[in-house]
Amino acid sequence: MHRVHFRKENTTVDVPDGTNLRQACIDSGVDPYPALGGMLSCRGKGFCGTCVVHVDDPSALSPPSKREKKFLDRLAPGLAEDLRLSCQASVSGPVTVTTDPDKKEGWKTHGYYSGRYVPSWKASS
Ligand code: FES
Repeated sequence: MHRVHFRKENTTVDVPDGTNLRQACIDSGVDPYPALGGMLSCRGKGFCGTCVVHVDDPSALSPPSKREKKFLDRLAPGLAEDLRLSCQASVSGPVTVTTDPDKKEGWKTHGYYSGRYVPSWKASS
């Protein structure tokens, strides 16, 4: 079992090794999504980026895939090291998680939520 602390929600849960982080959020009543409870998300497929979270110790999670790393590097240059798509991460140690990291006061915003990222469908119009 590993302890997962959700900073903003002040909630702590113990989860079995290998638990999907997005599922741990949902099972704990923590909404990992910035709006509409993830209704517009890809529902855990790793494509939309809306489930992004900040983690204090990235080594407490499974390593990101090349695709996830590339995705986060593109959307949040210089910040991607401590960000994870919660749907793509499995818990392997104690970790503190900040959901919706863009809205944490005093933090640099990352491109996805700050509007600096322009989706390809918008750029071509
Ligand atoms: S839910 Fe879409 S990337 Fe995680």
